[in-house]
Amino acid sequence: MRHLLEVDDLSADELRYVLDLASCPAASAPAVLAGVGVALVFEKASNRTRNSMEMAVTQLGGHPVYIRPEEVGIDVRETAEDVVRTLACYHSIVAARVFRHDHLVRMAACEVAPVVNLLSDEAHPCQALADLLTIDQCLGLEGTERVAFVGDANNVWRSLAIGCALLGIPSSLAAPDGYGPSAATLDRLAALGGECTVTTDPVEAVKSADVVCTDVWTSMGQEDERSERLAAFADYQVDGALMAQAGDRAVFLHCLPAHRGEEVAAEVIDGSSSRVWRQAANRMHAARGLLAFLGGPAGIPAGEASTPAPESVR
Ligand code: CP
Ligand code: NVA
Repeated sequence: MRHLLEVDDLSADELRYVLDLASCPAASAPAVLAGVGVALVFEKASNRTRNSMEMAVTQLGGHPVYIRPEEVGIDVRETAEDVVRTLACYHSIVAARVFRHDHLVRMAACEVAPVVNLLSDEAHPCQALADLLTIDQCLGLEGTERVAFVGDANNVWRSLAIGCALLGIPSSLAAPDGYGPSAATLDRLAALGGECTVTTDPVEAVKSADVVCTDVWTSMGQEDERSERLAAFADYQVDGALMAQAGDRAVFLHCLPAHRGEEVAAEVIDGSSSRVWRQAANRMHAARGLLAFLGGPAGIPAGEASTPAPESVR
């Protein structure tokens, strides 16, 4: 059984395959989820992730079910294990956006259904798939010299950096002191053979990069830290002057939602180098590629119309 808690749950070849599947038009997508359900649990707000996943499931012939946090109450109403064991009685794939990454780890460890991370405090792999698809479409994965990220070494940065490492694309990060990556994440990138340069200087990070990315300075769940984060990241806005330091063909990416005037200037996100709407649209295509992979021969047997009863209820 395959799970996607972080991008490197896929091998490099599998990641390329998922991106290939994502490039297949929706109209010719295999109906690998025909007759089955996909549970979509959201402990946090979502625009792109919910809508892209619901449509991707539908395009593969499946039935998405959106589940509000209070309906399942992970580790509140019942344990994370009992939540996934229950959902696996009805659904072929369980996807969740959670505050605590370890809840996903515990759910996946039950091995009752493929578990997909729809964003946790540590990782946002579905976003990274869309980011890499966008980079491939705009620049070609092989031809990309370097992907730079300016801002918080958060879930979005981590998954993108891991994806770049898997594909052999050098990356760089500029983050203020205290907001850089953990030693464990740097070790993980190194173990993948990834070249990731970490600096506190945004200009150094974007110099000659052909992709410049950023994300909000205050992620969901960190609202109490907003004022200190605004101060810490004040010099890390991606504006026109910073983009001018990047390579000639540099494109700008942002997972969205964006805060114009904070992490990005309007002139950049609404300017000619921005590819954020292509990137947002690619969330659905990337989700379809991932679900086709998980629902196909590598996961649930293709064409199987209903989920076998999980071990836990036999
Ligand atoms: N980028 C992204 O995950 O957006 P949502 O939070 O709206 O799903
Ligand atoms: N880092 C942000 C991403 C939102 C899509 C967050 O976790 O809130």
